[in-house]
Amino acid sequence: MQPQAINQQAYSTQTSQYRALIPCPPVYLAHRDFVQLLDRYLQLVPRDQPLRILDIGCGPGTSIQIMRHHLDNAGISAEFVGVDINPTNLDVAQNLHRNDQFLTPEALHQKFTTRYFDLVTCFYVLIENTPADITNILSSITQLAQPDGLVMIVNPSRFVYDQKRHWHGVNNHYSENTTPLKDKQIVKLDVFDPISDSHFEFSDYYYAPATYQNAFTNAGLTLLETHYPLGRANETFDWQEEKYHSPVEIHCLRKQVKAH
Ligand SMILES: C[S@@+](CC[C@H](N)C(=O)[O-])C[C@H]1O[C@@H](n2cnc3c(N)ncnc32)[C@H](O)[C@@H]1O
Repeated sequence: MQPQAINQQAYSTQTSQYRALIPCPPVYLAHRDFVQLLDRYLQLVPRDQPLRILDIGCGPGTSIQIMRHHLDNAGISAEFVGVDINPTNLDVAQNLHRNDQFLTPEALHQKFTTRYFDLVTCFYVLIENTPADITNILSSITQLAQPDGLVMIVNPSRFVYDQKRHWHGVNNHYSENTTPLKDKQIVKLDVFDPISDSHFEFSDYYYAPATYQNAFTNAGLTLLETHYPLGRANETFDWQEEKYHSPVEIHCLRKQVKAH
C-alpha cells in the first residue's frame, strides 16, 4: 500500500526551494557531522567492490549529492540507489545523478529482493510517516541491507520544536509546537536558508525517542550511537541555540547478526 506521507503537495510544487536549502559541500550541522560519522563507520564495512548505498526518501537527490561529493574526495567508489514516493523529486534526482538509479518503493522491491546494500540512509523521512509506514520502511531496510549492514537515520531533535529556543534558519513559532510534545502529534517548522533566500514549510510527526528506539529494535536494528551535532564558534553562521542543543539527531545502527 502507498505510504501516507505528508508534505507531498509541497514537494511537487516547490522542489527547487527545497533543493536550495541543502548546499553541497555541506555547511549545516546534520550533513557536516554525517560525513564524519560515515568515515568512521565505513571502516566496519569490508570494501572489495564499490559501496552499495540505498537512500530512502532521497528527495531531489540532495543527500546523495552530499555523500557522493564526500566519497569522491576520499577516493571511495559507490553506487547509489535513491527511493522516493514523490515523482517530482525522483525526476529531479535522476536528472542530477544520471548514473544512479532512482526508484519508487515498489520498483525497489521488484529490482532488489534481499541483502544487497552496505549502507542504508534515511534523512528526515521517518517524521513524514505514520507508525505503520515507519515499520514498513524499517523492514525494507532490514530486508535489503547486508547481514551486518550499516544504517544511518537523521531526524530533527525534540529541542527544535521548543518555541523558547531560537535557531539559525528555523522558525518554530507555530501553535502546533506544544510544550510538552506528545508522541505522534503534528509539529511544524519553516526552514530557511538566508544565502539562497529559500524556505520550505514542513508539517511532520513528532515521535518520542522511545518510539524510535522500539521501532529500531523491532526491525532487528541495533543502535550503535545517537549523535547530536552542535554549532561551533568559528563557523560561517551565527549559531544560536545550536551552540547548546542540537536541532538534529543522527542514529547510527547496524543490522543485527543473528547467532546460529
Ligand atoms: C525532507 S525530504 C528529504 C530529502 C533528502 N533525503 C534530503 O535529505 O534532502 C523527505 C523525502 O522523503 C520522501 N518520503 C517520505 N515518506 C517516504 C516513504 N515512506 N518512502 C519513500 N520516500 C518517502 C518524501 O517524498 C521526500 O522526498
